Amino acid sequence: MLRLLKIVFSSVQKRSNTNVSAVLRSVSLAASPSANFVSHPQMEAKLYHAPPQVRGMTSLDKDAFAQTITVPALRVPTRFINKLMKSLKKSTIQRPGVPRVVQDQEESPDFRLVLLDPHRVSSSGSFSEAEAEALRSFDVSQELQHYELRLTYDNLKSEEVLEAVLPLEQDVTSSFSRVGHIAHMNLRDHQLPYRNLIGKVIMDKNPGVTCVVNKTNNIDSTYRNFKMEVLAGEENMVAKVKENGVTYEFDFSRVYWNPRLSTEHQRVVDLVKRGDIVFDVFAGVGPFAIPAARAGAAVFANDLNPESYRWLQHNSKLNKVEGKVKSFNLDGRAFVRGPLKRELPALFAGKGRVHVVMNLPALALEFLDAFRGLLQEEAPYDNNLPTVHCYGFSKDDNPERDMVERASLVLGFPLEGRCNVHSVRNVAPNKDMLCISFTLPQEVLFSQHEEQTEHSEEPTPKRQKCETADSS
Ligand SMILES: C[S@@+](CC[C@H](N)C(=O)[O-])C[C@H]1O[C@@H](n2cnc3c(N)ncnc32)[C@H](O)[C@@H]1O
Repeated sequence: MLRLLKIVFSSVQKRSNTNVSAVLRSVSLAASPSANFVSHPQMEAKLYHAPPQVRGMTSLDKDAFAQTITVPALRVPTRFINKLMKSLKKSTIQRPGVPRVVQDQEESPDFRLVLLDPHRVSSSGSFSEAEAEALRSFDVSQELQHYELRLTYDNLKSEEVLEAVLPLEQDVTSSFSRVGHIAHMNLRDHQLPYRNLIGKVIMDKNPGVTCVVNKTNNIDSTYRNFKMEVLAGEENMVAKVKENGVTYEFDFSRVYWNPRLSTEHQRVVDLVKRGDIVFDVFAGVGPFAIPAARAGAAVFANDLNPESYRWLQHNSKLNKVEGKVKSFNLDGRAFVRGPLKRELPALFAGKGRVHVVMNLPALALEFLDAFRGLLQEEAPYDNNLPTVHCYGFSKDDNPERDMVERASLVLGFPLEGRCNVHSVRNVAPNKDMLCISFTLPQEVLFSQHEEQTEHSEEPTPKRQKCETADSS
């Protein structure tokens, strides 16, 4: 017992952030007959905290995170270790790089120490009924031992490192989007002085991340890409990602890619059948176009950004559907009034259904006017009118109704009762992304609306202001 007391006392002394009452309490508890482990709430909460001197660090010094802490342990006969580890798996220590079984202090080959999670086990009464039963069945004492565990930077999680470094009581969000080897962050102002350290920590703690970038502007560029600054790692921005089983490659700094849209891409692609025809007006690097082609559709895909257009072609080849995807580098309105208009009459007679995808949520609704009076002479459309899937943002209290009203206004035709509105995701506290789907009414397609020519110099419609960090 004296030896145990010494271990506890010396280890607690090493913890410079431990207060005196915690030290005294831990000693008295360890000496008590019930052999309770240190159960002072303050100590428990701080067990995994990095040493206080790291606060304010801006250049990563990994050595400064080393510390020794005391954890509870059970002394278990070596021959029962494997069986007992299964029963105790909820209580054993779970730290990256920390072994759960170590040598007994006496270095006896017949016994091992099983290290326990101090947040779960503070006394022999902490074991569940099943755990206690397993210990009894192997005749293992529930008396807790103490083990001095050396923790280093490698054993801490990224939030623990950042919580210890960044100013107290300020948000320490370390979340990021993963795009291939790139971790994409959106740091707040108070985090900026620590940005290089944050970048290194994210890279160290996330296998496969070899580059960390921070967004330096809101997504308000025409091509919907972010300006970004490399915080850590390689400067290579050409990412390779897999979405819904399809591989894409692109330069993340020059095109639009949002890993949060994979479900929506799949939802729309699932509506496409072999033999259908898809017009993707704002195609990006192909996350609707390429899976639709793989599903057996003939695809006409367009993007105004020459870089997106280049990667769209690259991805078509990469996925061996270049024969199914015809790509264009036009303004969306010119694409509708050019290639789409040219193809449409012949498709009316065909069996394949026609889908038009318009994913540029900040603006796409305004582009719907391109369909007004698109075809002047009635073609034999045979009920095979295109289905349009048009995306939009809404800040309205009733976003579904808002979408229907805005789409109807631009089309000059009431869509109420003739459309379906799907809520895609919430992009900011009061901003939703939605998709309105409807059959393009023949009254719109064949209306007497003043048609503009394919290359008309009409003014660009006013863009909705994008204030959020996550607009697309
Ligand atoms: C929100 S992204 C969507 C890309 C892709 N469909 C996806 O789901 O990831 C919108 C795309 O529209 C393109 N774009 C922006 N303005 C355009 C315009 N006037 N005409 C055609 N494409 C445009 C951008 O370059 C961008 O690739």
